[in-house]
Amino acid sequence: MKNLVVLSGAGVSAESGIKTFRDSDGLWENYPVEEVASIEGWYRNSALMLQFYNERRRQIAQAEPNLAHKKIAALESCFNTTVVTQNIDNLHERAGSKNIIHLHGEVTKVRPENCRADEEGVIDIGYRDINIGDCDKNGVQLRPHIVWFGEEVPMMSAAIQAVEQADILLVIGSSLAVYPAAGLVHYTRKDCKIFLIDPKPIHIAGLNFTQIQEVASVGMEKFIEILRKNENF
Ligand code: APR
Repeated sequence: MKNLVVLSGAGVSAESGIKTFRDSDGLWENYPVEEVASIEGWYRNSALMLQFYNERRRQIAQAEPNLAHKKIAALESCFNTTVVTQNIDNLHERAGSKNIIHLHGEVTKVRPENCRADEEGVIDIGYRDINIGDCDKNGVQLRPHIVWFGEEVPMMSAAIQAVEQADILLVIGSSLAVYPAAGLVHYTRKDCKIFLIDPKPIHIAGLNFTQIQEVASVGMEKFIEILRKNENF
């Protein structure tokens, strides 16, 4: 089986009712992104951050995987598939994808605030709220298991390894504006075929790729059609 890497961003979850980041004037669900998605934000106002991620958890509990998530999961029967997602939601999992790298963390997980993202101590809390005073067994405040601006991206090396081995790379629903994730496309082999699904035209200097200019669900149908027609895949 060929190796397929799907690099997904907020746009893949848009049809599930979850807003993207850069389509709403720098606001993430009505909050300035730097206030709710940076380590400085956590030190400035942890209570606001916890409330924000409590809201995200409730929203994700209500959301359902859309056709694009499901079609990505279905590709696992034909390809060695790795989903590298920048999304903190769990919609790829719920659609059935098995091999998922969450570059920016997972909203359904928390960890003590003195614990690094790659250390033991991560706790799966499902859709529960976390508030100030909710601590681990050592009395340390719990924080969302999210990679915020100003923090390391510990899953980057696993993602690079997957992209380096890809025969096909599909970028879906990402503006590729945030590094280091955006730089992943440059780790592909020369013979890797790169496709990009996004309703807006995307330009990437120095990269040869085919854009499918559609929303995620329609784009996935067209992508699968291309795979079907090309016997090299
Ligand atoms: N289907 C597919 N793509 C869509 C759809 C849709 N229905 N609607 C919007 N898009 C596209 C937009 O055109 C845009 O190019 O999805 C992309 C979303 O881009 P961003 O909002 O920048 O999201 P993303 O690339 O995932 O952001 C990366 O930034 O703030 C951080 O950590 C956060 O993981 C996030 C990272």
